[in-house]
Amino acid sequence: MTLKHQRVELKVQRLKASDKLRCDLLVVLFAPERRGLSPSIRQALSRQKSALVATIERGLADWSSEDESYLIRSSGLPGIQNILLLQLKEDDADTLPRQYARRVGEHCRSIRAQSVVVQPNRASLFSRTALEMFVEEFTLSFYSYRAYKSEQASNYRGPRTLGLLGLPAAIPHAASSARAIASACAFARDLVNMPPSDCTPRYLAKVAEQIAREQRLRCQIFDERALRRMGAHAILAVGSGSAQESYLIRLSYRPRRTARAPIALVGKGVTFDSGGLCIKTRAGMSHMKADMAGAAAVLGVMQIVRELEPSNEIDVYIPAVENMLGSHAFRPGDVLRSLSGKTIEVLNTDAEGRLILADALSYAVKMGAHTIIDIATLTGACATALADGYAGLFCNDERLTARLVACGVHSGEPVWPLPLPARYRKYLKSSVADMKNTGTERGGGAITAALFLQHFVGKARWAHLDIAGTAYAEDPDFFGVCGATGFGTRILSHFVAGRPL
Ligand code: BES
Ligand code: MN
Ligand code: ZN
Repeated sequence: MTLKHQRVELKVQRLKASDKLRCDLLVVLFAPERRGLSPSIRQALSRQKSALVATIERGLADWSSEDESYLIRSSGLPGIQNILLLQLKEDDADTLPRQYARRVGEHCRSIRAQSVVVQPNRASLFSRTALEMFVEEFTLSFYSYRAYKSEQASNYRGPRTLGLLGLPAAIPHAASSARAIASACAFARDLVNMPPSDCTPRYLAKVAEQIAREQRLRCQIFDERALRRMGAHAILAVGSGSAQESYLIRLSYRPRRTARAPIALVGKGVTFDSGGLCIKTRAGMSHMKADMAGAAAVLGVMQIVRELEPSNEIDVYIPAVENMLGSHAFRPGDVLRSLSGKTIEVLNTDAEGRLILADALSYAVKMGAHTIIDIATLTGACATALADGYAGLFCNDERLTARLVACGVHSGEPVWPLPLPARYRKYLKSSVADMKNTGTERGGGAITAALFLQHFVGKARWAHLDIAGTAYAEDPDFFGVCGATGFGTRILSHFVAGRPL
């Protein structure tokens, strides 16, 4: 059981107009509705090679107005193999650099470019933030999951160098943090894409131990014996039908400078969700290896936590279980005594995420967490409400809501706030226990799940991200990939790296 995660090796260079260009692909970007070389760019490019501007302008004239791009193959210019003229229709500052990055990535793949130079043709396309978005998305555009392919269909991993022409100086830092976040996201995708027979709760614990060694973190693994001793009967119940051992995993980061109030990140780690005795349908089960995507996201963050340099203490908690059927499985009708002491009547063994999170949240509160963010593929209802482009955000604090929404926009992982109405708490009332683990037949399943979790966060400032719709993609439109998206890694990386709370 070896863990391989490749660091991203793309070298990002800042080029001056007077530098001699040598590249497989020169990309000239045009802002929406502005298809022409600006005078300053024309001047800069003509200092390069006198024929370059003429070649580009011939291309511009040939370029039909419907197409987004125009590729000049074998430009005939010494040192520059191909030239791509690219204009996107959309003018949204938050997504434009990412759209560009993906399109440039596609063209790189088609010609297997090893060196690329990008000319933004408008400075605002490469503000510091835009640059971060571009480098991160460009790097990720070469992601593919190959671990179980015996035949390497293509060994192309993207170009080795990316040159950026005529940019302000803030590049080195922006590029290195973008690369770190991209590799953390790819790491999370790998974990989610991994088959559930190999990505078991024990495997997640091993991954956490390895991250702890690499990043100098404290790692605690609570096995079933330890869980029994701490009273985490909800985690134990969900794992009881599986031959795999259940765990609660904790990773702790302590900043070098004076620590600030601890933030807890809690990730749902169901390595396979069959539904348990309330078994899912064949179609409903098909991507349930992705039910540990919350765990993967928080592990991704911890994998680069030293580079993010948070000023808060950070504790990651992962309840890791497999939800299976067996003679020891928990049943509808069972009443569980959770770690908090509150009792829960199980009415549906497929609502297992909230059970294991209840114990993990209670434990985080007990350990003194001041702010808690949990992330979980929790409800099909959230995917129904928001589809595959937005995660649901439930939060008991307005400032935290605003911060997470902003981080979502900036990181390319948008979240949308949904309510936590006290009046819906009645839907969780049980006739035999303190609460039940399902809501009402009449809808609002994402909300009642969030209200269930709220019972276990005490007075902490708390946010819950429901990533059921965003963790695993059937089409690449939103996150540029099919399969695991790594959703959560980027928004939480931006969050913990930001201003202290
Ligand atoms: N892991 C599922 C939620 C899910 C569904 C994630 C689809 C990704 C795609 C979760 O454990 C679950 O089964 N939830 C139930 C809750 C219900 C039984 C109250 C659901 O959403 O149907
Ligand atoms: Mn389930
Ligand atoms: Zn689940």
